[in-house]
Amino acid sequence: MTPDRTPRNDRNEPKGRYDKKGRTSTRRSFLKVAGIGLGTIAIAGAAGLTWRAVDGGVFASGTGEAFAAWAQAGPEAHDALGLVRAAVLAANAHNAQPWQFRVADNRIDVFADTTRNLGTMDPLLREMDVSLGCAIENIVVAAPANGKKAAVTLLPDPADPTHVARIDLQAAEASVSPLFTAIASRHTDRNSYDLTRPVSAAELARLSGLIDETVAELVWFSDPAEKNAFGALTVRATEAIIADPQQVADDAAWYRTDWHEIQSKKDGITIDPSGQSEFIRAVSKVIPVSTAQNNAGWLAGTRDSQVPTAAAFGALVVRDPLDTGERLAVGRAWQRLHLSMTVDGVSAQPLCQLPERIDRERSTGLNPDFGDALAALLPAGRHAIMTFRIGHPTGSALPSPRRPAREVVLS
Ligand SMILES: Cc1cc2nc3c(=O)[nH]c(=O)nc-3n(C[C@H](O)[C@H](O)[C@H](O)COP(=O)(O)O)c2cc1C
Repeated sequence: MTPDRTPRNDRNEPKGRYDKKGRTSTRRSFLKVAGIGLGTIAIAGAAGLTWRAVDGGVFASGTGEAFAAWAQAGPEAHDALGLVRAAVLAANAHNAQPWQFRVADNRIDVFADTTRNLGTMDPLLREMDVSLGCAIENIVVAAPANGKKAAVTLLPDPADPTHVARIDLQAAEASVSPLFTAIASRHTDRNSYDLTRPVSAAELARLSGLIDETVAELVWFSDPAEKNAFGALTVRATEAIIADPQQVADDAAWYRTDWHEIQSKKDGITIDPSGQSEFIRAVSKVIPVSTAQNNAGWLAGTRDSQVPTAAAFGALVVRDPLDTGERLAVGRAWQRLHLSMTVDGVSAQPLCQLPERIDRERSTGLNPDFGDALAALLPAGRHAIMTFRIGHPTGSALPSPRRPAREVVLS
């Protein structure tokens, strides 16, 4: 199946799956990781800024309409819309939530919302497809709890590449699984991980066993040399992204610092789940930071906290990185892995700077610097579609906003 998936070019001229509607973007800087001085912090403490703290949602983390979806995924609905409530809680790149659903009594159709693309951060739509796969998997996992059995057909309409799945539902005996319960408690954990508690080889093997190897394989980087090689490349890819003005702009378009904007848009990357301390999060909601400070903080956090505290890195790999079906399957696999880790008390964070940079190289004809370097760490003929780190938590992973089911259902 090869739908028109022409890469987006550097001037942001939409093509292929992009050509339906234009993309809107609000350029905002956001402190991903600490990069601010003590003087700034002192200013933040000033009483005169209290009103900004209230207005910026400093005292209201994880509350309001933007977070209501996390309490709405229970099995009590017993209808197809109940499954969409589970779907919207799926992991998805930049929290762009690139999905729409058409709901009937015994069927859900899943569509890509191509207006929610990430521009040069995802020029080949890999992350959009993986995100859609994550939403499909949540529907499958939630179906038994809602008294349904789900049968998935990927890409059912060759004439419409945005129609990524048809999910037929049959009545079945209701049963609530631990994976279903984890749907509403799974969050991306960007904190540092606990270096005193490695993830056992048995747990890595158990996670590998969850993957259907006919569609994707899971490669672990778990010994010190492998971890160093993968970690160093990820840091270098972060440096390359922040040196690329177009990627910086397209990345920043999804950062949300303003409380009111978060409550109205209910999407994007917000401060609370950034992995920062409570104090730094509070300050960064009050004091605006520049994009340059933001990117310096991102690099520092990746290099000094996220990479060095990973118990292991992983890569979900496929044979054809441009195949939509394989990408959707990887999304399904990632969601299932992360739900299963949540059940086991293991934390995870996708760390996709490498594939993001590799797609940038491919889409612009750049020298395959990162493509070649990552290929050297993978089995021959395999391509990484999704890369991540895992470890044991040191703190709570906080929820990201979500558009509720009613906002993403097609009438
Ligand atoms: C394809 C894909 C790529 C992602 N890449 C990254 C990444 O590079 N860094 C990161 O911190 N999170 C990454 N994420 C996690 C998303 O940002 C996260 O799922 C989203 O913000 C929603 O938050 P939640 O997972 O806590 O619900 C990625 C997720 C997906 C599905």
